[in-house]
Amino acid sequence: MPVEDSRLSGFYKLSVTERRAMIANLAKLSDDEVAALANHGELDELAADRMIENVIGTMSLPVGVATNFVVDDKPYIIPFCVEESSIVAAASNMAKRCLKKGGFKTNNDEPVMIGQIQVLGLENIEEASEAVLTAKYELMAMCNSLPSTMIKLGGGCKDIIVRSIDTISGKMLVVHLLVDTRDAMGANAVNTMAELVSGKIEEITNGRVHLRILSNLATHRLAKVEATFTPEELSDDGTRENGSKIITGILEAHHFAMADPYRATTHNKGIMNAISAIALACGQDWRAIEAGCHAWAAVENGAYTSMTRWERDDEGNLVGSIETPMAVGIVGGASKVHPVARANLSILGVESAQELAGIMAAAGIAQNLGAMRALATNGIQAGHMKLHARNMAVSAGAIGDEIEQVANIVNSQSGPVTQQLVKETLDSIRD
Ligand code: MEV
Repeated sequence: MPVEDSRLSGFYKLSVTERRAMIANLAKLSDDEVAALANHGELDELAADRMIENVIGTMSLPVGVATNFVVDDKPYIIPFCVEESSIVAAASNMAKRCLKKGGFKTNNDEPVMIGQIQVLGLENIEEASEAVLTAKYELMAMCNSLPSTMIKLGGGCKDIIVRSIDTISGKMLVVHLLVDTRDAMGANAVNTMAELVSGKIEEITNGRVHLRILSNLATHRLAKVEATFTPEELSDDGTRENGSKIITGILEAHHFAMADPYRATTHNKGIMNAISAIALACGQDWRAIEAGCHAWAAVENGAYTSMTRWERDDEGNLVGSIETPMAVGIVGGASKVHPVARANLSILGVESAQELAGIMAAAGIAQNLGAMRALATNGIQAGHMKLHARNMAVSAGAIGDEIEQVANIVNSQSGPVTQQLVKETLDSIRD
């Protein structure tokens, strides 16, 4: 229900229970809705209240595990947190289909993030750039003087580069701090360094430092993963002939995404179905990851295109690869605070942020293949509707064994699966 006033003065000072009661009153929530908000599951109210502002409750999403993954010869069970059916099943199914050739292989970049410093009001950009480069080691030493575990572990500012860009406000100098953030995502460290050196940069350039912030286009922190799928593994019936035909269909689907941004957006959304779901399950900043992945899909090629590459090798196998920014961390942030994120990281058993990045990119390849294989063969709805029919059966009131029975009956008929059909089927099995 729309509220009449959204200012909610003093709201932040209330307890979570008081805030929830106030919102319930304003939005005329039912008792069930209030109870749903108050049902805080694994994240208790105190922890939630410390994470963001104006907390009134928590919200649960399913966590499911994808199976069959082998990345760099290590088997993984991968937690996904996502609301869409078929995602976990498709990823698990595709991960099984590259085992003959050893699963997924990674070759990731070092975990280097970029901190941007915008310098304005310069009379001579070239001279200012030169001045920054001359002072590079002094600036790097300033960055690395911060008391930080990341620096003690071998991370820290490793290089500084300068860029000059044309904008509507005129020419600008942009200084990039290249910071190895080790096992942290690194936003805090990078932002702190960018702020720390800004005074010195003003001094040596005679300019005015404006923005100082991390870039989510983490082009020095690419997760690079490849996998090879044999025709037999990709077939419906174990034959090379059928698998080769399916590979041709997958390549045609991929070429569509490479050439057309309308298709590439959906194709890449499918990849992010895995990457974002694992990011969420593991307490990562999934918005940062999404922004970086999509931007790179455009920047790398000059136009928005597929995040993955697919080709047939000389032996007729399908080879899939991805190179995409993957700014993840296993120390700090929600990955340490959220109890389920911690449990999910334990399930994965990762020892470094780079290992996590490789797994996420591998899952992106598998998810992409699952979608393309389905689209290039039976269409996506067949798989979706199987699970969807179960949800519809539950909404129609089915319980226990009835859910599977109703879903099987409605899925076996050829027409559309409507809620009315589901209800009639439930009534008929109860008669
Ligand atoms: C749906 O969540 C994802 C797909 O649309 C991806 C794709 O079209 O490649 C199936």
